[in-house]
Amino acid sequence: MTITSPSLAGPSVWTDARLLYALEEVVEKELDRHLRVAKDWMPHEYVPWSDGRNFPGFFEDGESWDKEQSKVTEIGRIALVVNLLTEDNLPSYHHEIATLFGRDGAWGTWVHRWTAEEGRHGIVMRDYLLASRAVDPDQLERFRMAHMSEGFQSDNRHSMLHSVAYVAFQELATRISHRNTGRQSGDPVCDRMLARIATDENLHMVFYRNLLQAAFEIAPDLTMRAVRDVVVNFRMPGHGIPGFERAAAQMAIGEVYNLRIHHDDVLQPVLRFLKVMEIDGLGPEGCRAQEELGLFLGGLDTEATRFDEKLAARKARMAARAGA
Ligand SMILES: [Fe+2]
Ligand SMILES: [Fe+2]
Repeated sequence: MTITSPSLAGPSVWTDARLLYALEEVVEKELDRHLRVAKDWMPHEYVPWSDGRNFPGFFEDGESWDKEQSKVTEIGRIALVVNLLTEDNLPSYHHEIATLFGRDGAWGTWVHRWTAEEGRHGIVMRDYLLASRAVDPDQLERFRMAHMSEGFQSDNRHSMLHSVAYVAFQELATRISHRNTGRQSGDPVCDRMLARIATDENLHMVFYRNLLQAAFEIAPDLTMRAVRDVVVNFRMPGHGIPGFERAAAQMAIGEVYNLRIHHDDVLQPVLRFLKVMEIDGLGPEGCRAQEELGLFLGGLDTEATRFDEKLAARKARMAARAGA
C-alpha cells in the first residue's frame, strides 16, 4: 500500500498519541459518513407491549414467569441472554474507549454517539424480553448484576491500534450473533428487532474497518502486528457472563456463533476487504506478522472443518433418533 496523502505521512516511531492525531481526519470523515447513512429508529416500536403482563411482587394480579409463556426457542433464549448481557456492560466499554480514544474532537463525538446507539440495543432487547416473557426475568436481573459488577477490562487497553483492530472484528461478530439469534429464535418479532440491531452493528464495523484501513496506510507494519495479535487472541466481550462457557458451547451447536461462522463470516470478510494478506512492502516485523496471521487462519479453518464434521454427525444422530 502507498501513503495516500502527505498529511498521513508519519514518523517512523509511532505512539498512540501520534496515531490518534494522524487518524483524526479519517475519524471526522467516517463520522460524517456514519451520521449520513445511520437511520434513526425508535426502540419502543419494536416491542410487543400488548403482550405484557404484571409480574408478582407488588401487583396482586401479578403472574410469575414460566417457560411455557416464552415463544422463543431454547437456543434463542440462551443467545438472547448472552447478547443482552454483553450489551449491558456498555458503561465499562464506554470507559475503555473514552480512555483510549479521548473525548475531544471527532474521536469524542464518535465515542459518545456510539455509546448512545449501543444503549438502544440494551433497551430494546430488555423491553422485548420482559414484555414477551421470553426469558426468566429474575435470572436475567441476577446475571446482569453479577456481570456488570465484574466490569469489563479490554484485552487491548494497552494500545489504541489493537483496540481499533479488535472492535472492527468484534462489531461484525456482534452483528452476526444478533442476526443468527433472530433467525433461530422462532419468533418473527424477535427476528425483526435483532435484524434492526444488526444493521447498527454493521455500520459500527464499517466505521472501525475503514479506520483500520487508514492505519494500514500510515503505519502498515504496526497495524499488521496489531491485527495478528487481535485475531490470534480474539475472544468475545461477554466472556465474563455467568455460565458463558456452557452458553457459548450451546450457541456453537445451535449455529448462532461457532468456529466456522467466526472464520467465514467475521474474520475473512474484514481481512479480505482490507486485502491484509496481499499487502506488500512490509518490513521484517510486518512480514512475520502477516505470515503468522496466515498460518493461524489456516489452522482455524482446519479446526472449523473438524467442528463442522462433528456438528453434521450430531445432527445425523439426532435425525436418526427422531426417526426411530
Ligand atoms: Fe450493540
Ligand atoms: Fe456495535
